Amino acid sequence: MGYKVAILGATGAVGREILKYLEEVNFPVDDLKLLASEKSAGKYMEFKGEKIKVEKVEEDSFKGIDIALFSAGASRSKKWAPIAVKSGAIVIDNSSAFRMEKDVPLVVPEVNEKDLKWHKGIIANPNCSTIQMVVALKPIYDLSPIRKIVVSTYQAVSGAGLNAIKELVDQTEFIIDIYKAYKDKLEDFKYIPYKNLPYVKEILKPGKIPYQIAFNCVPHIDVFMDENYTKEEWKMVKETKKIMHDDNISVCATCVRVPVFIGHSESIYIETQDPLKLEEIYLALEKAPGVKLYKDPRTYPTPVDVEGENKVLVGRVRRDLDNDRAYTLWVVGDNLRKGAAQNAVQIAESLIKLNLI
Ligand SMILES: NC(=O)c1ccc[n+]([C@@H]2O[C@H](COP(=O)([O-])OP(=O)(O)OC[C@H]3O[C@@H](n4cnc5c(N)ncnc54)[C@H](OP(=O)(O)O)[C@@H]3O)[C@@H](O)[C@H]2O)c1
Repeated sequence: MGYKVAILGATGAVGREILKYLEEVNFPVDDLKLLASEKSAGKYMEFKGEKIKVEKVEEDSFKGIDIALFSAGASRSKKWAPIAVKSGAIVIDNSSAFRMEKDVPLVVPEVNEKDLKWHKGIIANPNCSTIQMVVALKPIYDLSPIRKIVVSTYQAVSGAGLNAIKELVDQTEFIIDIYKAYKDKLEDFKYIPYKNLPYVKEILKPGKIPYQIAFNCVPHIDVFMDENYTKEEWKMVKETKKIMHDDNISVCATCVRVPVFIGHSESIYIETQDPLKLEEIYLALEKAPGVKLYKDPRTYPTPVDVEGENKVLVGRVRRDLDNDRAYTLWVVGDNLRKGAAQNAVQIAESLIKLNLI
């Protein structure tokens, strides 16, 4: 027996990956509805060799739907999730709309699958940078509670949607073209005056990313909030505590956008309650279902290696030289897959496994 599934935001970066992943894992889909805005209505997308027409989301779009996978942004989730739930669907939401609500479980199946038991119709998928971090840290937490996390992220532009990918392509093309004109004088590259060209401000003007992203790093993801932390940084703080059921973990995050298409990387420093042996940590990570460990500490994963990968890649695991309860890791995840689409579909699989649907 299969399920009637709807994807809201099917045409977006995450929606496309959901479609791909459902097909890849042969999720039991009886019927599939693809929903987006008016702009995409009438377009066709392919699922298991069949062309399916994208529809504009409307009041009656969720009638008869069992599982609604949402990835169309927080304001759309706030509007359509209650309507979908009223129609009888379980909503698995990729946006930040409901993540911190008390009666909405925030779930990473490898970490807190049991929280699905108390859902009331809406289940939230955590932020991409939080998901890959907790998948990597939970096996260590189970050895000894983690008391402190200091994390710096290196996040791909696809985390900001399809338009941000285009922004990186356009800006890169533009700058490369200028450098090509100077290719015989590259030793003077420092002085190539592209920033002074009259049309440069137009091409390099911020769009989805608040600063030039080509050949740059931007320590600003989402809006600035309390204490001069960005919303992305606050998400990592609050979501980690909620998923791990531990308000005593101190989390300090710095989130940085980098000119990478797919794959978020994180440099993570942790302090545990008790001292651990590195061998214990390696063993726990090796056994963890969602982790692929690069055990040789001189090998490491990069975003190039993670595209299309279902596991979170962990490398460069080391101890702090001056603190016997502190360790550092390098963690890379496919932000569109485990960071969004895959985690959402895994939640649906867990609901089936736990007879919650
Ligand atoms: N990208 C990531 O790594 C990532 C990770 C975790 C969570 N998320 C979250 O997932 C959501 C989608 O992100 P994305 O990266 O896929 O964005 P995206 O590429 O910009 O796609 C947005 C999707 O939302 C649809 N949409 C926009 N306005 C709509 C409206 N008024 N009514 C119905 N549908 C509408 C778009 O449809 P049209 O084609 O018709 O415009 C498109 O399908 C966001 O909430 C984001 O925070 C993203």
